[in-house]
Amino acid sequence: MTPTSILNNKVAIVTGGAKGLGLTLTESLLAEGMQVAICGREAAALEKEGRQLIADYPNQLFWQACDVSQAEEVDAFIDAVKRRFNSIDVLINNSGFGKQTLVWETSETDWNDVMDTNVKGPFLLARKVVPVMIAQQSGYIVNIASQAALNGYANAGVYCASKFAMVGLAKALQEEVRQYNIHVHSLNPALIQSHRGSDEAIDEGLVQNEDIASTLLFLLKQPRRLKIDNIGMWGF
Ligand SMILES: NC(=O)c1ccc[n+]([C@@H]2O[C@H](COP(=O)([O-])OP(=O)(O)OC[C@H]3O[C@@H](n4cnc5c(N)ncnc54)[C@H](OP(=O)(O)O)[C@@H]3O)[C@@H](O)[C@H]2O)c1
Repeated sequence: MTPTSILNNKVAIVTGGAKGLGLTLTESLLAEGMQVAICGREAAALEKEGRQLIADYPNQLFWQACDVSQAEEVDAFIDAVKRRFNSIDVLINNSGFGKQTLVWETSETDWNDVMDTNVKGPFLLARKVVPVMIAQQSGYIVNIASQAALNGYANAGVYCASKFAMVGLAKALQEEVRQYNIHVHSLNPALIQSHRGSDEAIDEGLVQNEDIASTLLFLLKQPRRLKIDNIGMWGF
């Protein structure tokens, strides 16, 4: 018999949890017995993946459309998660994207869109989720940042700026919530090979979604006294 995971019955939120890396993270957390709430902007994608997942994990999954850059939608989503699962133990800030443009050719709209999702989103979520974790005196907030949070890359100015800001926000938040036994982590993967749903062969030189998922589970299973942060991940 498989031993029960220490994460069994804990509640996690995965933003962008119905696509790409987020979907792999959602599956991994469900397989640990966690109750998982996912969101994204595209309701149809949530509905499609959600229906498939609850067939394997009945009563463990909740989904609701939510644009993380919109305060009212974030507030409504978190209120719904609280009603459904009563607590929030883990928040994974996974929603995010970039624009491949030179800094001086980036439009104001693209700048705002990227910053609003990658930076304002985690801020709006923290406003709603941290008070729940403070009441519980425990919690984990994990940002899916990037190597672009630590290095500059050409054609990725707004993405780099947003991921640097995401990690800066996380570091400040960590100082504020340490006293409440809340951990704030950032994972910094290099380019991930996203071959979900395709026959593409695995490129062993690139990080895979599953590598991020196994690292996330490792983090969540460490003793509370241990602080691990800014884990860099590259293909080898
Ligand atoms: N792929 C890489 O090589 C790589 C490397 C390092 C870090 N990362 C980071 O990993 C995370 C996931 O990336 P991915 O490769 O899985 O990308 P992806 O397949 O494009 O998935 C992005 C997810 O974010 C959601 N999303 C985007 N804007 C949103 C918004 N305003 N509100 C709510 N959800 C939103 C999307 O759902 P909707 O479209 O339905 O909103 C989707 O679920 C991102 O933060 C990315 O920066 C990726």
